[in-house]
Amino acid sequence: MASISRRHFLQQASGTSLACASSIMFSRASWAQARSTAAGAPARVYVDSRRTISALDRNLFGSFLEHLGRAIYEGIYEPGSSLSDENGFRKDVIAEVHQLGVPIIRYPGGNFVSGYDWLDGVGPKQERPRVLDKAWNSINTNQFGTNEFMAWCKAVGTEPLMGLNLGTGSTEMAAALVEYCNVGKGTRWSDLRRKHGVAEPYKVRRWCLGNEMDGPWQIGHMTATEYGLKAQDAARQMRYVDPSLQLIACGSSGPFMPTYLEWDREVLEQCYDYVDALSLHRYFSNNAEETGNDSAKFVAMNLSMEKQIAETVAVCDMVQGHKRSPKKLWLSFDEWNVWYRARSGDAVNGHEKEAPHLLEEVYNLEDALLVGGLINSLLRNADRVKLACLAQLVNVIAPITTNSKGLLRHTIYFPYSWALQMAHGSVLNIMVDSPTYEVSKMGQVPYVDVAGTFNAEDGKTSVFILNRDLSNPHVVEINWQDKAPERVLVSSVFTGNDLKAFNTFEAPQKVVPQNFDKPTTSGGRTKFELPARSYTAIQWGA
Ligand code: AHR
Repeated sequence: MASISRRHFLQQASGTSLACASSIMFSRASWAQARSTAAGAPARVYVDSRRTISALDRNLFGSFLEHLGRAIYEGIYEPGSSLSDENGFRKDVIAEVHQLGVPIIRYPGGNFVSGYDWLDGVGPKQERPRVLDKAWNSINTNQFGTNEFMAWCKAVGTEPLMGLNLGTGSTEMAAALVEYCNVGKGTRWSDLRRKHGVAEPYKVRRWCLGNEMDGPWQIGHMTATEYGLKAQDAARQMRYVDPSLQLIACGSSGPFMPTYLEWDREVLEQCYDYVDALSLHRYFSNNAEETGNDSAKFVAMNLSMEKQIAETVAVCDMVQGHKRSPKKLWLSFDEWNVWYRARSGDAVNGHEKEAPHLLEEVYNLEDALLVGGLINSLLRNADRVKLACLAQLVNVIAPITTNSKGLLRHTIYFPYSWALQMAHGSVLNIMVDSPTYEVSKMGQVPYVDVAGTFNAEDGKTSVFILNRDLSNPHVVEINWQDKAPERVLVSSVFTGNDLKAFNTFEAPQKVVPQNFDKPTTSGGRTKFELPARSYTAIQWGA
């Protein structure tokens, strides 16, 4: 069991994965989208600012940094580089993440966290040990640890989402880390932080109780009941230290797991009363196993994320019923992305090196289209998914890659940045009548996928539209059911001729957004044509 990697496990379980994919149904919101019109007819979109799904929690657009490959070392921390500041933080990366406005960042793992001793990463740097990280077979010099992460979060203007080691780590040391971070002074662990030069507590509010504990690849992997009890005890001790915490229990690592949903139920039977949320993870592939290398299917896979959300919500609410609890859990989709090419890093290829090149996925146009769709799906489920992390942020399955001279924005950077820039206020409950197409094992899928927000504070409306048709443009007609907006503030499209095109340091502008002709509105209607294989963002002012 010790040497099984996530990839290996995925391959073994691929039969399960396909079986899951075969029963895809639409969630409430997507079902509305599937009411099809005739092929070639415009997609009709109905927007009413009074009809909303939920207030938008901006933590839906969080991200993730793990001690993995070059995410931390050479990614955000590179002492000695001319691009770094006096703390060793890459200034170009700080500027980029600050300008993106990422609201929350999960750290330090991921699989890494399940073997991590946080004490190794605090205190005088020269005394910190060089440790073999067994999750990724890499050397962690521990020159970057909890206090460096907190300082970096402050510099980029984000909130930390701290992961805890519930693999090799004890519940006592989990609570000790809360004490180290959140207690002012006068206790063993708060005084240690002060001795390390940090007088004020960080008041970290959100914590992940372990990582993917259902996975045989996970250090400390255990049964659902064992984990549920451990999470319960960690939560109990942590709340004694700081009752204001928001705690996330580990849900299933994905629908491919043989224990999918059963794991979630058993875990929650043990710790429902002690936690606030349950995690979900999902990585999408356009390969023989998952899509049959069919890009038309790949760009529809966000609908299977919605199925996963609906199923996980159902389990949470079933346990709520069992417990007769007044509390409803929210979901933390704290790892999601496209990831299938740079897989070889799992637990073998770190070669006991510092900052090895691991999981350096290069993203193309079709990946960005799906990422746009996934953002739409998260928005449509904003009533239950209150936090989500694009996994990850820098170098490792990430929108940003660094080298010694600067940084590169991959295709998936752009839909993510649009959500961060334009989605505010409340998530609209948008109705869509779209022509559909047949996708194997998924049935009829709408060509046009729409999500959007309305911000009552400034009157701005933003819509994000995926055209899944890989060959043809589609006309969209937005029907404004209350007041039609007046001014187009932003109108951008992400498209191209080659679904497989990607950016490189040599050609960084190969696939970038283009201006989209500002659509005009008359008689309460806005009509425009979406290019084939495109993701479009339009924002209107009041
Ligand atoms: O994000 C990469 C890895 O994927 C994480 O370490 C783990 O949680 C997941 O399996």
